[in-house]
Amino acid sequence: MNTQDFIEILPVSLLEDHRTLVNELRLLARKLGLDFGWHYLLDLTWLISHLEKIEGVTIMDAGAGLGVMQWYLAEHNARIISVDRGSRADMPLRFRKRYHVKTKNETQPLNGPLKALFNNLKRLPSLAGKLKFIWRELEGAVTFTEAPGQVQVYDCDLAELEAIPSNSIDAIVAVSALEHNQPQALEAVVVELLRCLKPGGKLLATLGAARDQDWFHEPSKGWNYTEDSLRRIFQLSPDAPSNYSQYDGLFFQLKNCAELRDNLAKFYFTSADNGMPWGKWDPQYQIVGVCRMKGY
Ligand SMILES: C[S@@+](CC[C@H](N)C(=O)[O-])C[C@H]1O[C@@H](n2cnc3c(N)ncnc32)[C@H](O)[C@@H]1O
Repeated sequence: MNTQDFIEILPVSLLEDHRTLVNELRLLARKLGLDFGWHYLLDLTWLISHLEKIEGVTIMDAGAGLGVMQWYLAEHNARIISVDRGSRADMPLRFRKRYHVKTKNETQPLNGPLKALFNNLKRLPSLAGKLKFIWRELEGAVTFTEAPGQVQVYDCDLAELEAIPSNSIDAIVAVSALEHNQPQALEAVVVELLRCLKPGGKLLATLGAARDQDWFHEPSKGWNYTEDSLRRIFQLSPDAPSNYSQYDGLFFQLKNCAELRDNLAKFYFTSADNGMPWGKWDPQYQIVGVCRMKGY
């Protein structure tokens, strides 16, 4: 238990309060050809602003996918342990060119660049999509220089991190990833993450927030958790502060946030299986950040 623990539903004022960082993240995502989830700029600014140090330290991106966080941290010279149960075997070439990407467990090593290119093209349905992908890869191959950090890719479940020694990670960030676990399964994930953290290190996670009871948002396949559930799952100290009492007011501001509403990524408009079905701005949940420091 630690008095530095806290829970914070993310206010949209984060965007204005961290404008330089928001602009940097937008630029990086554009350069890498990545889209943001509808609330990810809130998640990323909150998480990054609570990291005490980035340069030269080991940070786990838990449930990283190909998301922006790990690349941002590598740009700032961190050593990233990038963990996801989804395979990154077909990681596009442009990421491998700019970052020192290594796979650490051999179950799913990176496919060779040509095989990865072929597999990625096969997955893209339209000719326009395929051409855009090739263009991005060529542009990345020609223009990208190497970033200073390193990214070590682990394809495994966050509840089973045997490959990672205890007390070896300076900080852990999880961008909208942990809510894709049943509440009970999430308890096991948190135990395993805390094992890997160094004493004094922070586990920082963003997840879906629920006001009255935990519930599952079917289109995005994500859980939303109450304050009580988060306190239990993350083993937070009982006096850890929380702003859940402002739930309704913060939700009103989120629903009226023109910056997020007017910048929805294109993929939202093409299906109902996402956090903003068919691109209709209608947030069904808000985002909460949890900070859990591992005691000494
Ligand atoms: C919505 S995506 C977010 C990906 C990334 N953090 C980003 O910013 O784009 C959630 C990711 O968390 C991963 N994930 C969730 N629970 C996991 C677990 N128990 N073990 C490994 N990966 C997990 C999923 O495989 C998925 O890639």
